[in-house]
Amino acid sequence: MSQDQHIQQMATRQIQPIRSADGIWHNARIAPAGNPARIITDGTIVVRDGLIAWIGSEADMPAEFSHAELVRYDVGNRWITPGLIDCHTHLVYGGNRADEFAMRLAGASYEEIARSGGGIVSTVRATRLADEDTLFQQSARRLEALLAEGVTTIEIKSGYGLDLATERKMLQVARRLGRSYPVTVYTTFLGAHALPPEYQGRADDYIKLVCEEMLPALHAEGLIDAVDVFCENIGFSVAQSEQVFIAAGKLGLPVKMHADQLSNIGATQLATRFKALSVDHLEHLNEVDVIAMRKSGTVAVLLPGAYYFIRETKQPPLELLRRYRIPIAISTDSNPGTSPSTSLLLMLNMSCTLFRMTTAEALMGVTANAALALGKADCHGLLEIGRAADFVVWSVESLAELAYWSGLNPCNAIVRAGQFSFTPHRERN
Ligand code: NIG
Ligand code: FE
Repeated sequence: MSQDQHIQQMATRQIQPIRSADGIWHNARIAPAGNPARIITDGTIVVRDGLIAWIGSEADMPAEFSHAELVRYDVGNRWITPGLIDCHTHLVYGGNRADEFAMRLAGASYEEIARSGGGIVSTVRATRLADEDTLFQQSARRLEALLAEGVTTIEIKSGYGLDLATERKMLQVARRLGRSYPVTVYTTFLGAHALPPEYQGRADDYIKLVCEEMLPALHAEGLIDAVDVFCENIGFSVAQSEQVFIAAGKLGLPVKMHADQLSNIGATQLATRFKALSVDHLEHLNEVDVIAMRKSGTVAVLLPGAYYFIRETKQPPLELLRRYRIPIAISTDSNPGTSPSTSLLLMLNMSCTLFRMTTAEALMGVTANAALALGKADCHGLLEIGRAADFVVWSVESLAELAYWSGLNPCNAIVRAGQFSFTPHRERN
């Protein structure tokens, strides 16, 4: 069997034995930065020792590669993009909230459910009860669904523990997912996600616990890459959020924020003062906020799955973001309450249908701009010489199809860190 055939016949949805993807990937159309306006036709990627040794038009390939004894993979004129990046998820949690979905369909709002002791706090109960293996198994099947659509980098937040032991358990599960699957995991500490029941009426005391105990301890254990806060009427105030950002700053950790999702209480203004990597959700963002984002270099992360699932009607101000040239990322926000979704491709589709983004903006939103949102643009979201070989081969005629289909997975092959990854149903496409 030739190697070209082998791409077509790799096994079904399960973890592949580690197999090097070193070789010459030729006869491809390539969007190296996930930008359909900058493409390479008749493109070739040379993968060597897990890295991109060369990328460009086949005609320009240096002789050292054409003469080398390298395996050749004929991509069949398919498209190649960088591996996709899901830059905002709450993937690790116990249980689910299908019962609340039924309540909302019967008329209750997301805020009403939260205020009556449901919402985030009900997932906190389930997450505290789940042991680490159970949490891992429940989260792994969601991760597998994301990976099968070409995700090679993911951010995972804590925030359903709200005590030191359970926040630690969540972050350890996130790290273990990164060791067990072909994906790079960045962890975010979201201790300030909601007030745990045992701190009812004592929000300031809880913030003190977050800043003085949880954050330093989990940071010392190497479990935190960034810090997030849910700054909202039903979350934490601007003053409380500021305390968390100050504590993060003392440890040298970058910050980001759940901002302006249900109301505008000044969350983005605060986040930009701390040079936040990103502000996320943004349905209630205004022009003054956008100007501040421009100055601080903060990325806008839009989450159409949450907008859709809680039947929000206020749209994030896309025109303002465009006018001030704010990089826009798109993510699943995968979580049990507002976005029980494990399809990043569906988010591309929704960002276009619901927010009127272009298909090109949507693709940038899960590649180059998602890397920026993580503060990791130097290692993800772009295919260039010297970087790890993280890319996806798509069986599509045009890149617009990545946002066009819903339910069809046109992913043909996934290479992550120079290894073949998880590749679904290749015989058919
Ligand atoms: O991103 N808004 C706060 N956090 C999550 C929802 C969490 C939940 O409801 O469980 C979000 O929408
Ligand atoms: Fe979120």
